[in-house]
Formats: sequence, C-alpha cells, structure tokens
Amino acid sequence: MFALQSATFDTKADFYEDLVQQATHLLAGEPDRIANAANFSSLIYHALSEVNWAGFYFFDGKELVVGPFQGKPACVRIALERGVCGAAARTRQTQRVADVHAFPGHIACDAASRSEIVIPLLLGEELLGVLDIDSPIPNRFDADDEAGLTRLAAVFVDACRGAANGRQ
Ligand code: SME
Repeated sequence: MFALQSATFDTKADFYEDLVQQATHLLAGEPDRIANAANFSSLIYHALSEVNWAGFYFFDGKELVVGPFQGKPACVRIALERGVCGAAARTRQTQRVADVHAFPGHIACDAASRSEIVIPLLLGEELLGVLDIDSPIPNRFDADDEAGLTRLAAVFVDACRGAANGRQ
C-alpha cells in the first residue's frame, strides 16, 4: 500500500497518477518558475515516504545553482563535472543511484542520504536544471518511482513552457 495524505493506493502507478494530478492542479495557470518549484518540492517531499531532501538545481548557463527545496540546507553551486546532479545535467539522463556511497564524486549535502534520484529538466533542447530527491534508505527508488517521478518532472517543465518569466 502507498499512502498519499489520507489516501492509500494499491500500486505505485496509482500513487503517482494521483500525485501527477495534484501537481498539475497546483501549478495550473502559474508561470512563475520559482513559485512553482517551491510548491512542487513541498508537494513531493510530503507525499513521498522515506525522503530527506527534494528540490531543484537550476542551470545558469555554466553550473547548477540550488533552487527551492525541502530538507536540510544544501550546497549552493554544483559544477557539471561533479556529483549525481552534475552527471544528470551533463548527460541529460536520469541518475538513479541505489547507494550514493558507491557513486564516484557523490556530494553529501546531508550525511543521512543513502540513495538518490536526479532527473534532468529539459525544455526542448534547453537544460532548465535537475530535480533531485534523496532518501536515507538504500535503494529507495525503483523503476516505478523513476517512471512516476519522470512524469511529475514533466508537469513542472510543462508549467515553465511559454512562461514569460520562465528564466529566473
Ligand atoms: N547529492 C547531490 C548533491 C545535492 S544534495 O543531495 C541536495 C550530488 O551528488 O549531486
């Protein structure tokens, strides 16, 4: 069973379907990227179990800069050559890391983190940044989580599409 606020779901797919609907409503009609990132990170941080950090790093054209998040204070800037976030941004591929201690160059913002998933945020060819989620549980994120979180990330990117102030 997967709990989301007061609701329970039989499958992770159902859980993420509901979360996608919530995120879509939460961001609907609001073009401000920072406002949407703040509410989005709060939504997923409180919805997902066993997560100790959830939020954004935005690409400023040179490196990643921390954006809205929930969790402990994090490192502000990450070069694309560094860490799980840098790898996701550089390769434009989701990084699903079962054991962060085994990932060369992992940046430990919170020593409690044991596994991590980082999803690149692409608006067409443009790299907006990454969505980063950390867990204190090893191997917290499976392929179903990756599929659901990829859909959620797309909700955020869609909200940025056509936003006059999308580039903060
Ligand atoms: N662990 C990340 C750094 C960001 S924190 O997890 C919030 C990394 O290796 O890129």
